[in-house]
Amino acid sequence: MKISVAEQAGFCFGVKRALKLINEYQRQGKKIQTFGPLIHNTPVLNDLAAKGIRHVERVGDIDPGKTLCIRTHGVPRDTELRLRRKGIPTLDATCPLVKKGQKIIERLGRDGSRVLIVGDKDHPEIIAARSYAPKVRIINSLAAARALSRSREIRVVAQTTLDTDFFKQVVAILMDKAETLQVFNTICQATQERQEAVRRLAPNVDAMIIVGSQVSSNTRKLYQIARASNRNVMRVETCADLRGARILARLKKFKSIGLSAGASTSPQELDNVKNFLQKL
Ligand code: F3S
Repeated sequence: MKISVAEQAGFCFGVKRALKLINEYQRQGKKIQTFGPLIHNTPVLNDLAAKGIRHVERVGDIDPGKTLCIRTHGVPRDTELRLRRKGIPTLDATCPLVKKGQKIIERLGRDGSRVLIVGDKDHPEIIAARSYAPKVRIINSLAAARALSRSREIRVVAQTTLDTDFFKQVVAILMDKAETLQVFNTICQATQERQEAVRRLAPNVDAMIIVGSQVSSNTRKLYQIARASNRNVMRVETCADLRGARILARLKKFKSIGLSAGASTSPQELDNVKNFLQKL
């Protein structure tokens, strides 16, 4: 069995930065908690929990004796203000590229104009991002883009982990919806590189395995992109997910397997899956 790993896969710059910040902070002997899961990856969260770093979901649950780490996806503006008013010490691990998107939305919405965000309305990044302008509309499907009424001007940005092809299709639809269309490609470079690497690899292998969490948006996108050109795509969070008899029998039929991983998957987890497959 030949195993090929996508040229870009696993931890992105924003996740590495967040983990570095939190680990350095802890090394200094400071107590820390995160606001929501730091990233969407169970093994990494388990590692943090083993070091005593747990997450809280609500402002009311915050332990005032610990610093609160803001996760990579950021938090809504009013939450940030509440934390400040309560005097809760914070460590901001929001990815700078997520921040950049927030600043663009803020600038675009300053004159009261409506800003379109292409992304998932329930994702924490979008929940935070939409708080940066008074009038925001979230678009998550081509049908929703088609249903928009014509207007003089449309200003549109993207979730950082959006599928680049999907964003292009939405933009193509919006071209007919406004006299002036301002497009800000806020999909981050790490996402674009990982998606391109999967687009190159998936059609050239018998099967693809995408390593990452079920709730990780960018992992989901990698899975969908691989599925577009390969019928045999599996998503696993750790190599334990490959140990079942049925999946093992399925894997053994393939002569070549491509591997990729979401931006919140550690290189170690990707290696574990690779080593496991090599042993087959
Ligand atoms: Fe940042 Fe992109 Fe990673 S927005 S957290 S570098 S996936």
